[in-house]
Amino acid sequence: MHTETHTGLESPRGNWWKPAHKAEKVWVGIAFAWCMVLFAMMPLWHWKGGQNPSGIRRRVEPTAFFARTEEFIKQYKVGDDRGMPIVQPPAGADVYLTAMAFQWRPILKLQKGAQYTLHLSSLDVNHGFSLFPINVNFQVVPGYDYGLRVRPNASGDFRIMCNEFCGIGHHTMVGRVIVDDAPAVATTAATTTTVTTTVTTTGGVR
Ligand code: CUA
Repeated sequence: MHTETHTGLESPRGNWWKPAHKAEKVWVGIAFAWCMVLFAMMPLWHWKGGQNPSGIRRRVEPTAFFARTEEFIKQYKVGDDRGMPIVQPPAGADVYLTAMAFQWRPILKLQKGAQYTLHLSSLDVNHGFSLFPINVNFQVVPGYDYGLRVRPNASGDFRIMCNEFCGIGHHTMVGRVIVDDAPAVATTAATTTTVTTTVTTTGGVR
């Protein structure tokens, strides 16, 4: 029976500890140095990597953003698809896209090679803007207006899939972006097949 009491403040008896092997010390050193590199990368990547949203980012009342979207629709509407307005803004315009359970409003008609400021926000919960089949992802957060500078460099009829679970109709939340070829006079040798944006990640401020 073990009757001896031990305070825990004293080392136990016996050869219970020996100094770390040199290889282990080296390994801990490498791991620590790498931790510091990764730690430094966080602020560095924000400024140098173009990883965080570099466009406009500000707070907005969801109702105000929705009103602005409706104004945008009224201004540039060119048609509709089963009740969803199709909106064709001029090059350089501020474009408004509202996410809500469970739709993306409106349908956007953009021109290849033209630059736009795409404003994204949500009326209710977090949604995920994911341009299919192109690899563009962005988190759409209620209360924030993200103004992304985008320049479509591929024409086509794209879908916006919601990639953030937002409720029972999440899987039906599909929007549409139509990119027309630039007018013949302004053709460029476009060889890439991706849409460039200033941002391609999820995240940002909450
Ligand atoms: Cu919206 Cu999932």
